[in-house]
Amino acid sequence: MGQPVRSAAYLDPEASVEARIEDLLSRMTLPEKVGQLLMLDAQHGDLADIVSAKLAGSVLHVSPDVMPQAMELARRTRLGIPLLTADDGIHGHSFWPGATIFPTQLAMACTWDPSLLHQVARAAATEIAATGIHGTFSPVLCITRDLRWGRINETFGEDPFLIGELGAAMVRGYQGEGLGDPTAVLAYAKHFAGYSETLGGRDASEADLSPRKLRSWFLPPFEQAARAGCRAFMLGYQSIDGVPITANEWLINDVLKGEWGFTGTLVTDWDNVGRMVYDQRTCADYAEAAAVAVNAGNDLIMATPAFFEGAQEAVARGLIEEKQIDDAVRRVLRLKFELGLFEDPRTPDPERQAQVIGCREHADLNLETARRSLVLLRNEGILPLEGGLTADGAGRAASQGTPRTIAVIGPNADSTEAMLGDWAGATGQVPWMPEGHPRESVETVLDGLRAVAPADWTITHARGADIASPASNSEWSLGPDGQPQPPVFTPAPVCPAQLREATAAVEASDYAVVVVGDTIDLTGEVRSTATLDLQGGQIALLDAVAATGTPMIVVLAQSKPSTLPDSALNAAALIEAFNPGMRGGRAIAELLLGLIEPSGRLPVSFARHVGQQPVFYNQVRGQHGNRYADLTQDPLFAFGEGLTYTTVAYSDLVVHDPDVTVDGTINATVRLTNSGSRPALETVQAYISDLTTTVTWAEQELKGFTQVHIPPGESLDVRIGIPASQCSLVTADNRRVVEPGEFALRVGPSSRREQQLSAQFRIRT
Ligand code: NOJ
Repeated sequence: MGQPVRSAAYLDPEASVEARIEDLLSRMTLPEKVGQLLMLDAQHGDLADIVSAKLAGSVLHVSPDVMPQAMELARRTRLGIPLLTADDGIHGHSFWPGATIFPTQLAMACTWDPSLLHQVARAAATEIAATGIHGTFSPVLCITRDLRWGRINETFGEDPFLIGELGAAMVRGYQGEGLGDPTAVLAYAKHFAGYSETLGGRDASEADLSPRKLRSWFLPPFEQAARAGCRAFMLGYQSIDGVPITANEWLINDVLKGEWGFTGTLVTDWDNVGRMVYDQRTCADYAEAAAVAVNAGNDLIMATPAFFEGAQEAVARGLIEEKQIDDAVRRVLRLKFELGLFEDPRTPDPERQAQVIGCREHADLNLETARRSLVLLRNEGILPLEGGLTADGAGRAASQGTPRTIAVIGPNADSTEAMLGDWAGATGQVPWMPEGHPRESVETVLDGLRAVAPADWTITHARGADIASPASNSEWSLGPDGQPQPPVFTPAPVCPAQLREATAAVEASDYAVVVVGDTIDLTGEVRSTATLDLQGGQIALLDAVAATGTPMIVVLAQSKPSTLPDSALNAAALIEAFNPGMRGGRAIAELLLGLIEPSGRLPVSFARHVGQQPVFYNQVRGQHGNRYADLTQDPLFAFGEGLTYTTVAYSDLVVHDPDVTVDGTINATVRLTNSGSRPALETVQAYISDLTTTVTWAEQELKGFTQVHIPPGESLDVRIGIPASQCSLVTADNRRVVEPGEFALRVGPSSRREQQLSAQFRIRT
């Protein structure tokens, strides 16, 4: 391959990026070009083979130990093109021991706070960037549709508007001041587009999506991310109407690059190119598959080593021209130049790591995010305990009145896994953290109550039930894509001895806090569930604790909404905690004791029964009736719902100019009154209903929200401004338009009609 080139124009930082790209490209052989398109899995493979032989320009899942070696191998290749690295920093730097692991995306979405999520992404980026990783496969902009899907926890919930706002904020946070910013990482928003429209909740099934349905609900969050400056997208796994996403020229070229003017980089999902050969079987061999992927406009090919030979063979067989490869290589090189990698390959920086990874500032932000992520779903007056305590200087509730005993019960009461959720250490994606994150970096609910409850209170603990039987831990097999395939989950049987121990502890206590939910076995990629019920001995445990008569507070520490037994639904209180991160247990304890106020709102609707799928709120109108013969269609908990420890009343909704033009703004005011005795952080939600439409459309859609602090006993007027252009729909011929006519503005604390005020307005041309 000749001698390294050390004084070429592409190495000149003064030259323009385009000139550098063209100079470099002119020096590259076809294998070197194809290598630049490879993003290979570095965790199992031999690095010398990946970087020196296959000339991979990009790697993912590089363990901290081998990162310096991988970068050095790239530096020593003939042209010394720096390595581009990426990993799944989904809610923090997942696979770096002791990094700050924030609440999962679904939990973060419960905050309804884009500026908080911006800070989270900024903090995560500084930790990730310090370790030599240049990009994170985040945020997920998929829409929750069927709750059986295993990846619900990775989404921001079911509403495209909320997803768009939160996703854009995270993109800005990750990318900081731009790609030249050394604390920034590239955001790979994913999974473009429609991956979550599963069949039966099954992961990566063929998505039954028309172009209109895509444009109506699935594409808007991606368009918003692209407009927010997102520099990379990852594709999904699904095919749509017979076309694997990797081959979808309409979505990639016409919509993304054409209509939206996206100039960033596209990465396939894991072995998408291989999948077209052995799974979807739309290509006979890797040469065909490589040609299809390049033709459709993909740039980086993830985890398909055979693309190296396949793409070269495709050129030799005339399936693609080398100049098409050149175009993709240009985009990859442009990214490397924009990141400044030729001048500074951004190798791991131990000094910076010591400053930022798991630092106090990030731990504080994490605690605040966890607090804001909790959603109070039911409260029969029991919370906050003892009417609410106050914190002493050290953050512990001060002793007052009679010392109490709390029995902390349940399989997730002392589970670090239930706090962290998927994509965190020992969650199956990488082999170098079998023990997960350090135990002391995670606060479980039991830890939290021990740390925060008054010093003279007694905290007892009994597990009470298991979720999975040990059989669920039997050997995983490897799928054709080299990814581990778990065995079918086996629930744990009800254990009478565990139940007796738990009920004895509860009977000796003033309060029972029962923490139930799911486990990593029931969460994530290839781990969709057929049922939404609480598994193992959990329902028996809830029933048994309820039967003791001790007031029961149920905490749902879980990845996605479960269906709940009557014992939980009738509990004294119910709190949703979607995997709330490393500080989650403390945040839950603070909420129970009234050191903080509940403010989270559901970004996703809960089903009463698995058969209610799909249960999302923005369904298209026109169906007969509103119930099944044997069950209501009403969700158990609706999108936007969440209680406070006070009472906030909505009144006096006024639309100031009820006659607006298409380019105008609907300006309204609503009065909020906190008639209780505790402060509220209220999320005011504004929904639009287009009263008559030329095509069938959602009955209402979220188009604005704002958060206000209201002190006890006070009223305030909240202004709402919604651009009339937001009041749009997608026509039968796939155009997004505003149809002039009558609309209703509905304002309230949730998507429930009975909780909303409504005022009519008109849009004219
Ligand atoms: C496959 C997943 O679908 C994707 O979300 C993830 O980023 C990649 N694997 C890399 O781990």
